[in-house]
Amino acid sequence: MPDTASLALEAQPQTLRIVPTGGPFGARVEGLDRTRPCDAATRAALNRAFLDHQLLVLPGAPMTPAQMRDTSAIFGEVVPQLLRYKRVGELPEVSRMESTLKADGTTDKTAIRAETWHTDDSYMAAPAKGTVLHALQIPSRGGTTWFCDMYGVYAALPAATRRRIDGRKAVHAYDTVRAINRPSARTPQEIAETPDVVHPLVRTHPETGRKALYLNFNRLDRILDMERAESDALLDELADVARQPRFHYGHRWTLGDAVVWDNRCLMHRVDVDYPVGEERIMLRTLLRGDRPA
Ligand SMILES: [Fe+2]
Repeated sequence: MPDTASLALEAQPQTLRIVPTGGPFGARVEGLDRTRPCDAATRAALNRAFLDHQLLVLPGAPMTPAQMRDTSAIFGEVVPQLLRYKRVGELPEVSRMESTLKADGTTDKTAIRAETWHTDDSYMAAPAKGTVLHALQIPSRGGTTWFCDMYGVYAALPAATRRRIDGRKAVHAYDTVRAINRPSARTPQEIAETPDVVHPLVRTHPETGRKALYLNFNRLDRILDMERAESDALLDELADVARQPRFHYGHRWTLGDAVVWDNRCLMHRVDVDYPVGEERIMLRTLLRGDRPA
């Protein structure tokens, strides 16, 4: 027979306050107790806010990998990630991302690549709809994670540019000559799991119906059915629009923060400007997504 105390706890809706960041998107959620099971009403309110704001900051104390998985699962199905060496042993769907700058040159390649605007998982046929990042160790300064509103970028494009890209498809690859830095090495199994994939250049968000430009400076190799030079020039032109600060929100981390964001309408990057040797460790989960359309 279920324990009545835990039933009462599960049934208890939480009183949340959703406070916009003051930037072009994003909100901070106050009042969520991440250590309690999440009831249906609270879950629905959080998911509504996720779609409305594109990004939510969930403050709290540092979590165990199991708490991280459970908190992430409020927003979707938590799926295993490609790189095996980052997986937390007992929970393969939670990755430990170490972006500490090492004086001996052994800084993780993912950390270096993350300085460039990207969207997680776009080299997959069905990329993660969202990412959750949770700060376990942060340096004394720097390391802001920046996000870019790809609904806004698409809407701001001149009509002539939108006509050039609407209906176009693009190739996303684990690595591309267009990326400044090389990615982490893959095992033969991981290589077999990551063939090049084709995605629309403009995607329609499956839940909000809004159009967003789907770029990734680290993975997007070329626009299909276009000469390389023309494709490069057009991707550079689109990238220049996305670099405009009016589309950006920067999250300055506090220890214990969890941030969940929507990869279907945001890119992100990190400032690798923090002191060498100061630990920067995050837990990361990815939420199952659909094939972009
Ligand atoms: Fe990322």
